[in-house]
Amino acid sequence: MSLKFKLIGYPIKHSLSPWIQTTFLERSGIKGSYTLHEIANEGIFEEEINKLKAAEVNGFNITVPYKETIIPYLDRLDVTAERVGAVNTVALEGNNWVGYNTDGVGYVQALRDKFPDMDGNKDVPILILGAGGAARGIFHGLVLAGFKNLTLANRTRSKCENIINGADASIITLAEAEKNIAAFDVIIQTSSVGMNEAEQIIDLSNLRQGAIVSDIVYQPLVTQFLKQAEEKGGRIHYGHTMLLYQAQKAFEIWTNKNVNVEGMDEEMIEKIK
Ligand code: ATR
Repeated sequence: MSLKFKLIGYPIKHSLSPWIQTTFLERSGIKGSYTLHEIANEGIFEEEINKLKAAEVNGFNITVPYKETIIPYLDRLDVTAERVGAVNTVALEGNNWVGYNTDGVGYVQALRDKFPDMDGNKDVPILILGAGGAARGIFHGLVLAGFKNLTLANRTRSKCENIINGADASIITLAEAEKNIAAFDVIIQTSSVGMNEAEQIIDLSNLRQGAIVSDIVYQPLVTQFLKQAEEKGGRIHYGHTMLLYQAQKAFEIWTNKNVNVEGMDEEMIEKIK
Protein backbone atom coordinates (compact mmCIF):
# COMPACT_ATOMS: atom_id res chain seq x y z
CA MET A 1 0.00 0.00 0.00
CA SER A 2 1.20 3.49 -0.80
CA LEU A 3 0.35 6.40 1.51
CA LYS A 4 -0.81 9.74 0.20
CA PHE A 5 -0.11 13.08 1.88
CA LYS A 6 -0.71 16.66 0.74
CA LEU A 7 0.16 20.22 1.60
CA ILE A 8 -2.68 22.74 1.34
CA GLY A 9 -2.19 26.50 1.29
CA TYR A 10 -1.46 29.47 -0.90
CA PRO A 11 1.11 30.30 -2.09
CA ILE A 12 3.09 27.08 -1.49
CA LYS A 13 5.10 26.57 -4.67
CA HIS A 14 8.40 27.25 -2.89
CA SER A 15 7.61 25.21 0.20
CA LEU A 16 10.33 22.90 1.51
CA SER A 17 7.73 20.53 2.97
CA PRO A 18 7.63 18.16 -0.05
CA TRP A 19 11.41 17.72 0.19
CA ILE A 20 11.24 17.19 3.97
CA GLN A 21 8.35 14.71 3.90
CA THR A 22 9.69 12.79 0.91
CA THR A 23 13.01 12.44 2.73
CA PHE A 24 11.13 11.13 5.78
CA LEU A 25 9.27 8.59 3.64
CA GLU A 26 12.57 7.39 2.15
CA ARG A 27 14.35 7.30 5.52
CA SER A 28 11.61 5.22 7.11
CA GLY A 29 11.17 2.90 4.13
CA ILE A 30 7.49 3.80 3.66
CA LYS A 31 6.03 3.90 0.18
CA GLY A 32 4.10 7.09 -0.39
CA SER A 33 3.85 10.59 -1.80
CA TYR A 34 3.62 14.14 -0.48
CA THR A 35 2.42 16.68 -3.02
CA LEU A 36 1.11 20.24 -3.20
CA HIS A 37 -2.58 21.09 -3.32
CA GLU A 38 -2.86 24.85 -3.83
CA ILE A 39 -6.15 26.51 -3.01
CA ALA A 40 -5.94 29.94 -4.60
CA ASN A 41 -8.83 31.54 -2.71
CA GLU A 42 -11.23 30.96 0.14
CA GLY A 43 -14.24 30.88 -2.22
CA ILE A 44 -13.27 27.41 -3.47
CA PHE A 45 -12.03 26.06 -0.15
CA GLU A 46 -15.01 23.82 0.64
CA GLU A 47 -15.09 22.34 -2.85
CA GLU A 48 -11.35 21.62 -2.73
CA ILE A 49 -11.53 20.03 0.73
CA ASN A 50 -14.30 17.74 -0.48
CA LYS A 51 -12.13 16.74 -3.44
CA LEU A 52 -9.30 15.98 -1.08
CA LYS A 53 -11.49 13.81 1.14
CA ALA A 54 -12.72 11.93 -1.93
CA ALA A 55 -9.13 11.43 -3.07
CA GLU A 56 -8.54 9.21 -0.03
CA VAL A 57 -5.48 10.93 1.33
CA ASN A 58 -4.06 9.63 4.62
CA GLY A 59 -3.33 13.08 5.92
CA PHE A 60 -2.32 16.60 5.01
CA ASN A 61 -0.55 19.68 6.23
CA ILE A 62 -2.34 22.96 6.04
CA THR A 63 -0.61 26.32 6.02
CA VAL A 64 -1.23 30.01 5.45
CA PRO A 65 -3.93 31.30 5.05
CA TYR A 66 -6.12 28.31 5.98
CA LYS A 67 -4.93 27.16 9.43
CA GLU A 68 -8.18 28.34 11.00
CA THR A 69 -10.46 27.99 7.96
CA ILE A 70 -10.06 24.21 8.09
CA ILE A 71 -11.42 23.77 11.63
CA PRO A 72 -15.18 23.47 10.82
CA TYR A 73 -14.37 20.71 8.30
CA LEU A 74 -12.74 18.47 10.90
CA ASP A 75 -14.37 15.89 13.17
CA ARG A 76 -12.14 16.52 16.15
CA LEU A 77 -9.24 18.65 17.40
CA ASP A 78 -6.39 17.30 19.47
CA VAL A 79 -5.30 19.32 22.54
CA THR A 80 -2.50 21.10 20.64
CA ALA A 81 -4.85 22.46 17.96
CA GLU A 82 -7.47 23.31 20.54
CA ARG A 83 -5.10 25.37 22.65
CA VAL A 84 -3.52 27.14 19.72
CA GLY A 85 -6.81 27.65 17.86
CA ALA A 86 -5.18 26.71 14.56
CA VAL A 87 -4.37 23.50 12.70
CA ASN A 88 -1.30 22.67 10.62
CA THR A 89 -1.66 18.86 10.44
CA VAL A 90 -4.69 16.70 9.70
CA ALA A 91 -4.79 12.91 10.00
CA LEU A 92 -7.44 10.49 8.91
CA GLU A 93 -8.12 8.30 11.97
CA GLY A 94 -10.72 5.65 11.22
CA ASN A 95 -13.36 7.74 9.49
CA ASN A 96 -12.49 10.88 11.38
CA TRP A 97 -10.48 13.87 10.29
CA VAL A 98 -8.45 14.98 13.29
CA GLY A 99 -6.67 18.35 13.51
CA TYR A 100 -3.33 18.86 15.26
CA ASN A 101 -0.93 21.74 15.64
CA THR A 102 2.70 20.65 15.53
CA ASP A 103 4.34 24.06 14.91
CA GLY A 104 4.99 25.13 18.49
CA VAL A 105 5.40 21.62 19.88
CA GLY A 106 7.90 20.94 17.09
CA TYR A 107 9.89 24.07 17.78
CA VAL A 108 10.09 23.29 21.47
CA GLN A 109 11.33 19.80 20.55
CA ALA A 110 14.01 21.35 18.30
CA LEU A 111 15.23 23.46 21.23
CA ARG A 112 15.21 20.52 23.65
CA ASP A 113 17.15 18.35 21.20
CA LYS A 114 19.80 20.99 20.66
CA PHE A 115 20.07 22.06 24.30
CA PRO A 116 19.37 18.98 26.44
CA ASP A 117 20.27 20.96 29.59
CA MET A 118 17.01 22.90 29.09
CA ASP A 119 15.11 19.84 30.20
CA GLY A 120 17.01 19.45 33.45
CA ASN A 121 14.91 22.03 35.23
CA LYS A 122 11.32 22.77 34.27
CA ASP A 123 11.57 26.04 36.23
CA VAL A 124 14.14 27.47 33.82
CA PRO A 125 13.08 31.10 33.17
CA ILE A 126 11.90 31.41 29.56
CA LEU A 127 11.02 34.66 27.78
CA ILE A 128 8.89 34.78 24.64
CA LEU A 129 9.10 38.00 22.61
CA GLY A 130 6.09 38.76 20.40
CA ALA A 131 2.52 37.52 20.66
CA GLY A 132 1.32 36.47 17.20
CA GLY A 133 0.31 33.02 16.00
CA ALA A 134 3.83 31.62 16.27
CA ALA A 135 4.18 32.80 19.88
CA ARG A 136 0.85 31.18 20.72
CA GLY A 137 2.02 27.81 19.38
CA ILE A 138 5.37 27.98 21.14
CA PHE A 139 3.83 29.11 24.44
CA HIS A 140 1.44 26.15 24.51
CA GLY A 141 4.20 23.84 23.27
CA LEU A 142 6.25 24.87 26.31
CA VAL A 143 3.28 24.46 28.68
CA LEU A 144 2.56 20.98 27.29
CA ALA A 145 6.25 20.06 27.69
CA GLY A 146 5.94 20.97 31.39
CA PHE A 147 7.89 24.25 31.49
CA LYS A 148 6.56 26.34 34.34
CA ASN A 149 8.41 29.65 34.40
CA LEU A 150 7.15 31.47 31.33
CA THR A 151 7.12 35.20 30.59
CA LEU A 152 5.69 36.95 27.54
CA ALA A 153 6.63 40.41 26.27
CA ASN A 154 4.93 42.16 23.39
CA ARG A 155 4.29 45.68 22.09
CA THR A 156 0.55 45.07 22.58
CA ARG A 157 -0.10 43.60 26.02
CA SER A 158 -3.64 42.37 25.36
CA LYS A 159 -2.32 39.86 22.83
CA CYS A 160 -0.21 38.24 25.56
CA GLU A 161 -3.28 37.94 27.81
CA ASN A 162 -5.11 36.33 24.96
CA ILE A 163 -2.37 33.73 24.43
CA ILE A 164 -2.01 32.85 28.10
CA ASN A 165 -5.74 32.38 28.43
CA GLY A 166 -5.71 31.53 32.12
CA ALA A 167 -2.44 29.54 32.14
CA ASP A 168 0.22 30.46 34.68
CA ALA A 169 2.63 32.97 33.09
CA SER A 170 3.88 36.55 33.48
CA ILE A 171 3.52 39.47 31.12
CA ILE A 172 6.07 42.29 30.92
CA THR A 173 6.72 45.18 28.51
CA LEU A 174 9.45 45.07 25.87
CA ALA A 175 11.31 47.77 27.83
CA GLU A 176 11.21 45.60 30.97
CA ALA A 177 12.36 42.58 28.98
CA GLU A 178 15.35 44.55 27.70
CA LYS A 179 16.26 45.84 31.17
CA ASN A 180 15.88 42.44 32.86
CA ILE A 181 17.17 40.24 30.08
CA ALA A 182 19.83 38.70 32.37
CA ALA A 183 17.01 37.07 34.37
CA PHE A 184 16.23 34.66 31.50
CA ASP A 185 18.02 31.45 30.50
CA VAL A 186 16.01 30.93 27.33
CA ILE A 187 14.81 33.75 25.05
CA ILE A 188 12.62 33.02 22.04
CA GLN A 189 12.05 35.82 19.51
CA THR A 190 8.80 35.15 17.65
CA SER A 191 7.93 38.55 16.15
CA SER A 192 8.37 39.56 12.54
CA VAL A 193 10.79 42.34 13.49
CA GLY A 194 13.99 40.50 12.51
CA MET A 195 12.86 40.06 8.93
CA ASN A 196 14.14 43.53 8.27
CA GLU A 197 17.88 43.02 8.64
CA ALA A 198 18.53 46.30 10.42
CA GLU A 199 15.85 45.90 13.09
CA GLN A 200 15.88 44.15 16.41
CA ILE A 201 12.95 43.86 18.85
CA ILE A 202 15.04 44.52 21.99
CA ASP A 203 18.69 45.15 22.74
CA LEU A 204 20.60 42.24 24.31
CA SER A 205 23.49 44.16 25.89
CA ASN A 206 22.73 42.72 29.34
CA LEU A 207 22.32 39.11 28.13
CA ARG A 208 23.47 36.41 30.52
CA GLN A 209 26.50 34.42 29.29
CA GLY A 210 25.38 31.01 28.01
CA ALA A 211 21.71 31.96 27.66
CA ILE A 212 19.88 30.13 24.87
CA VAL A 213 18.65 32.65 22.28
CA SER A 214 16.36 31.58 19.48
CA ASP A 215 14.80 33.56 16.64
CA ILE A 216 12.02 32.01 14.58
CA VAL A 217 12.75 34.36 11.68
CA TYR A 218 14.78 32.36 9.15
CA GLN A 219 14.99 34.77 6.28
CA PRO A 220 17.59 36.05 6.97
CA LEU A 221 18.84 33.02 8.87
CA VAL A 222 21.20 35.07 11.03
CA THR A 223 19.14 38.00 12.26
CA GLN A 224 20.57 41.08 13.94
CA PHE A 225 19.09 39.69 17.17
CA LEU A 226 21.06 36.43 16.87
CA LYS A 227 24.24 38.27 15.85
CA GLN A 228 24.15 40.33 19.03
CA ALA A 229 23.22 37.28 21.11
CA GLU A 230 26.29 35.45 19.84
CA GLU A 231 28.57 38.43 20.50
CA LYS A 232 27.27 38.50 24.06
CA GLY A 233 28.07 34.83 24.67
CA GLY A 234 24.59 33.43 24.02
CA ARG A 235 24.01 29.97 22.55
CA ILE A 236 22.02 30.65 19.42
CA HIS A 237 19.35 28.65 17.61
CA TYR A 238 18.07 29.28 14.08
CA GLY A 239 14.40 29.51 13.14
CA HIS A 240 14.30 27.15 10.16
CA THR A 241 14.22 24.19 12.56
CA MET A 242 10.55 24.99 13.22
CA LEU A 243 9.71 23.82 9.72
CA LEU A 244 11.77 20.65 10.09
CA TYR A 245 10.43 19.64 13.50
CA GLN A 246 6.77 20.47 12.84
CA ALA A 247 7.17 18.12 9.87
CA GLN A 248 8.75 15.42 12.02
CA LYS A 249 5.81 15.57 14.45
CA ALA A 250 3.29 15.50 11.59
CA PHE A 251 5.01 12.45 10.10
CA GLU A 252 4.89 10.73 13.48
CA ILE A 253 1.15 11.42 13.78
CA TRP A 254 0.53 9.97 10.32
CA THR A 255 2.83 6.94 10.46
CA ASN A 256 3.69 6.31 14.12
CA LYS A 257 7.35 6.55 13.12
CA ASN A 258 9.81 8.85 14.83
CA VAL A 259 12.08 9.62 11.88
CA ASN A 260 15.68 10.71 12.38
CA VAL A 261 16.23 14.28 11.11
CA GLU A 262 20.03 14.12 11.29
CA GLY A 263 21.79 16.17 8.62
CA MET A 264 18.59 17.74 7.33
CA ASP A 265 19.05 20.89 9.37
CA GLU A 266 22.29 21.70 7.50
CA GLU A 267 20.82 20.70 4.14
CA MET A 268 17.92 23.07 4.75
CA ILE A 269 20.27 25.96 5.41
CA GLU A 270 21.79 25.39 1.97
CA LYS A 271 18.33 25.38 0.39
CA ILE A 272 17.20 28.55 2.19
CA LYS A 273 20.30 30.57 1.21
P1 ATR B 1 2.63 35.43 13.34
O1 ATR B 1 1.17 35.08 13.40
O2 ATR B 1 3.31 35.01 12.08
O3 ATR B 1 3.37 35.02 14.55
P2 ATR B 1 1.76 38.20 13.63
O4 ATR B 1 0.45 37.79 14.16
O5 ATR B 1 1.78 39.12 12.46
O6 ATR B 1 2.72 37.01 13.25
O7 ATR B 1 2.55 38.84 14.85
C1 ATR B 1 3.67 39.59 14.66
C2 ATR B 1 4.29 39.94 16.03
O8 ATR B 1 5.35 40.84 15.78
C3 ATR B 1 3.34 40.63 16.99
O9 ATR B 1 3.67 40.22 18.28
C4 ATR B 1 3.70 42.12 16.78
O10 ATR B 1 3.44 42.94 17.87
P3 ATR B 1 1.95 43.56 18.13
O11 ATR B 1 1.15 42.43 18.71
O12 ATR B 1 2.13 44.66 19.07
O13 ATR B 1 1.44 43.99 16.79
C5 ATR B 1 5.17 41.99 16.57
N1 ATR B 1 5.71 43.16 15.88
C6 ATR B 1 5.64 43.44 14.56
N2 ATR B 1 6.29 44.59 14.28
C7 ATR B 1 6.78 45.06 15.45
C8 ATR B 1 7.57 46.20 15.83
N3 ATR B 1 7.98 47.09 14.93
N4 ATR B 1 7.90 46.32 17.12
C9 ATR B 1 7.49 45.42 18.07
N5 ATR B 1 6.77 44.32 17.77
C10 ATR B 1 6.41 44.15 16.49
